[in-house]
Amino acid sequence: MSESLLERAADEFRRQYGLPAAFCVRAPGRVNLLGEHTDYNGLPVLPMAIDRCIAIAARPRDGRRVRAVALDWGHEIESFELAPAIPKHPQGHWMNYIKAGMQGILAKLCPDEREGMTGCDMVIAGNIPAEAGLSSSSALVVASAMTLLHVHHRTVGRLTLAEWMAEAEWYVGTRGGGMDQAVCLLGQPDHALQIDFFPLRAQPVSWPKEYAVVLCDSGVRAKKSESALRAYNFRSAECRLAARLLNQALARNGWESQFQRLGDLLRPPFHFSYTEIRDLAESALRDTYRYSELVQALGEESRVIEILRDCSIPGDPGDSGPRFHCGKRYRHVAREALRVVKSRELLDRGEMEAFGELMLEGHASARDDFEISCPPLDQLVRIAMESGAVGARLTGAGFGGCTVNVVRRDQVKEFLAAVRSHPGLPPSITHPGMIFPVNAAPAAAYYPIS
Ligand code: GLA
Repeated sequence: MSESLLERAADEFRRQYGLPAAFCVRAPGRVNLLGEHTDYNGLPVLPMAIDRCIAIAARPRDGRRVRAVALDWGHEIESFELAPAIPKHPQGHWMNYIKAGMQGILAKLCPDEREGMTGCDMVIAGNIPAEAGLSSSSALVVASAMTLLHVHHRTVGRLTLAEWMAEAEWYVGTRGGGMDQAVCLLGQPDHALQIDFFPLRAQPVSWPKEYAVVLCDSGVRAKKSESALRAYNFRSAECRLAARLLNQALARNGWESQFQRLGDLLRPPFHFSYTEIRDLAESALRDTYRYSELVQALGEESRVIEILRDCSIPGDPGDSGPRFHCGKRYRHVAREALRVVKSRELLDRGEMEAFGELMLEGHASARDDFEISCPPLDQLVRIAMESGAVGARLTGAGFGGCTVNVVRRDQVKEFLAAVRSHPGLPPSITHPGMIFPVNAAPAAAYYPIS
């Protein structure tokens, strides 16, 4: 599938620019099997790179201009000049992801190197459904950065590049963690990855070949550029506020050190276990706080406002504004991290029924405590379980997008038929092609033009 994508990008390149491309880059999307909204809290995730990709055909050009055509988004040539602070396209435009990746590289170079950076021409093709929770945006960010690096014969270690790209993607306005960029750069065929953060580490986890991963796209579009972006950033703010509240609880118990992200508690001087982190998160916080209660608990309004502003939430929301569900959010995060650690052991032992149970628990927790599900996703999880899946849950940031389902490989055909003909299928699923198996795919790479 990606072969033909690369060819499509390369053929179109010649047609658009009248010259052959010099090289291609392919970057995979991902499905997250477990560990949702844990990454920016410094806790592990268990994603898999998938055989749905972004392909870029490119050729260096003189001057600082970058020109790009996206085959599936309008065929228009868009362009910009490489600069330390590249002005944005309108919010939600695909060019912003290219700008994010390239600006992310420029940001790490010294001024002399930055000055010397010339641009390129690009054609982009892809088959990752957009805004479906499969990380098409990070694949584009990573592929664009790799394009610029290759134009300048530069190599950067994959772990380092993944860290750069996680930060680079903040350019588009989401305060995301580092999972998507890391799995895109480090994924392996036949394997999921356990990824840990701060510092970034990835360990391949062998995926049992008797089981398939099937995605069901709810058709509900989680527009990162609009309300889902605000909701995502709000979750991130709630977690940061929860950290401050928990630090106070620790201080009351005699701890002098402070932690920044929940995952820091695994390390010195704390050395908590995952279970201890969960117990603390469950016991030390209230489910929900009003704004004034937060300010009172934390003692400094300016700190609260600073955290909100840092997560792109303007001003003082006051008590008439939203509630802050710090306890519920941290309960999900801490329990979810424990599920990732357990799930890895279950995969190593091939205990897939128990793995499926954890997926269902993860979905319930994402729905009830992190509140990132929606009725079509819940319905799809129910339908999948009635149709023979061993486990099912929403995947990615939530608020729409896909569910991930684990199905015995010898039952995939029956599963697909049962889901597609289920009378309860959400009306947002307009096409049987929205339910499809995926395979664990290799990490992003360069390809010569054939
Ligand atoms: C998005 C972000 C990731 C991660 C997931 C939720 O995909 O980009 O960093 O936070 O949401 O698990």
